[in-house]
Amino acid sequence: MIEFCGIALAHPIVNGSGTFDAIAARRAFGDALLDEFPFSAFVSKTITLLPRAGNPPPRLWEAQAGLINSIGLPNRGLQGYLEHDLPQLADLPVPLITNVMGSTASEVGQLVEAIDARDEVAAIELNVSCPNVQTGLDIGADPGSLAALLRAVRPLTSKPLIVKLTPNTADVAAVALAAEAAGADAVSLINTLRASALRPDGEGRPWLGGGTGGLSGPAIRCVALAQIGSVARRVAVPIIGMGGVTLGAHALDLLCAGATLVAVGTESFRDPAAGTRIARELKSLQIAGSRRATPAESEPQVQVDVKSADSH
Ligand SMILES: Cc1cc2nc3c(=O)[nH]c(=O)nc-3n(C[C@H](O)[C@H](O)[C@H](O)COP(=O)(O)O)c2cc1C
Repeated sequence: MIEFCGIALAHPIVNGSGTFDAIAARRAFGDALLDEFPFSAFVSKTITLLPRAGNPPPRLWEAQAGLINSIGLPNRGLQGYLEHDLPQLADLPVPLITNVMGSTASEVGQLVEAIDARDEVAAIELNVSCPNVQTGLDIGADPGSLAALLRAVRPLTSKPLIVKLTPNTADVAAVALAAEAAGADAVSLINTLRASALRPDGEGRPWLGGGTGGLSGPAIRCVALAQIGSVARRVAVPIIGMGGVTLGAHALDLLCAGATLVAVGTESFRDPAAGTRIARELKSLQIAGSRRATPAESEPQVQVDVKSADSH
């Protein structure tokens, strides 16, 4: 058992928002899904105040070591979520985290208040990869805009508030610090990296119906490791780390970088049971690691010359 913002979880592996449709999986796998649910908590896809149809197709581009998506956050909107999705998600055998997004403080406030009123939800994740209507920049790219948003919505919920940071910013640690100072209970990162792909006809037109998209999967794992490390050095609140995790060893890396939980995203499209496998692999690595750390073996080993190691 581990503890995250006062919530007891069976292991550190959760899903990345929008990458595992638990309602569709229950239809496909039946109650077997509940018997061995792949994650220790379930994070919903992003919910907006009003329903969204999402972006026109094509919505996906397979990159060499990842996936560019331009799904555009299709969802039923707050009322549809509360009436249709929430009763089904409440049946899952793990705590539920609802992910919300809005383009103004008033929109986010309405979402947070409505979710706060529901006992089925253990925590709220705020997706701040949304353009500020005044500046056009992502709210989560600017410490000042994010702090102002959180000051407005933090008082509206007593549930743990997790801020899902955008990696598309010059200094993610500065944004994380602003989130922490304005009352975030935890931060999660990384969301997808802004990316684009062109049609193969050589005419320079975008492939994706939405124009640009977000890159996820193994291609972003090194970026995730660096950003999680830099945030962990600056904030005290717990971190949900994600980005390109496909093995228990990758999850262990993110934990070593400072994450408390690790989310699996794109890998679940390839293998819907990836969460279970990664949690199992992580556990064996942790057991093997603690067995190795006997007093004699944990003596300092060879000193690495950091300067020369960095110069490659
Ligand atoms: C198809 C797809 C849909 C996603 N939808 C959301 C979403 O609704 N809300 C959100 O906060 N993140 C969303 N994400 C981002 C993931 O939760 C995660 O942060 C990102 O993909 C990095 O993890 P990964 O490399 O393991 O996929 C989405 C990612 C993908 C690939």
